[in-house]
Amino acid sequence: MTRDDTEAAVRHWDDRYRSTSPVDVSWFEATPQTSLELIDAVAPPSPRSVVDVGGGAGRLVDHLVERGDRVAVVDISAVAIDAARERMSAAGADVDGVEWIVADVRAWVPRRRWDVWHDRALLHFLTGPGDVDAYLDVMHSALVPGGAFVIGEFAEDGPTHCSGLAVHRYSGTEMHTLLADAEIVEERRTVHVTPSGAGQSFRWLAGRLGRAR
Ligand SMILES: C[S@@+](CC[C@H](N)C(=O)[O-])C[C@H]1O[C@@H](n2cnc3c(N)ncnc32)[C@H](O)[C@@H]1O
Repeated sequence: MTRDDTEAAVRHWDDRYRSTSPVDVSWFEATPQTSLELIDAVAPPSPRSVVDVGGGAGRLVDHLVERGDRVAVVDISAVAIDAARERMSAAGADVDGVEWIVADVRAWVPRRRWDVWHDRALLHFLTGPGDVDAYLDVMHSALVPGGAFVIGEFAEDGPTHCSGLAVHRYSGTEMHTLLADAEIVEERRTVHVTPSGAGQSFRWLAGRLGRAR
């Protein structure tokens, strides 16, 4: 991954969030039910610390803050982060208690460690050489020892593209291989229904890290 790759991704995602309202993007969900259930399945009870990578303008942060969790949202798009912050601020939520981090996850250097790593629909965009290894290294460095993860990506029968970008679709075996050193607590298949009514097949893996990388 080069600086050009990051700059191209920033342009792409900023444009996407400038051109489409957060409630009209294909990945919008009013209540991130699967994420919340799986976080509860793998993590200690609230309050806990959660980092939502590729969180964009998504609403998971609203729900976690309401439960008393400490949350960091990491996203490559400052436009998305601003939209999330403004939405929460308008709702009277504690936006200053959230860490808002604009970064390319592949090059991000976490300054602290969290109890839970959450990713819905970021990893499947990482298709360049070394991208997945970089992502996994960052995940391990961002989590406390034995920390938990919840990762949901397009399944093998999911869309081939999203937001105009080709994605990698994950089989169950591939997801397990990524996290071969982890204790898997739960895996799920879900179908996300987009605002235009299309079904998108996801695979989820939730568990706890094993030995250090
Ligand atoms: C399909 S959206 C999912 C947003 C959110 N997780 C949700 O479920 O509503 C993918 C998100 O990943 C972000 N993203 C894409 N590539 C990234 C990267 N390399 N580093 C950090 N964020 C990235 C995009 O800006 C976008 O917000």
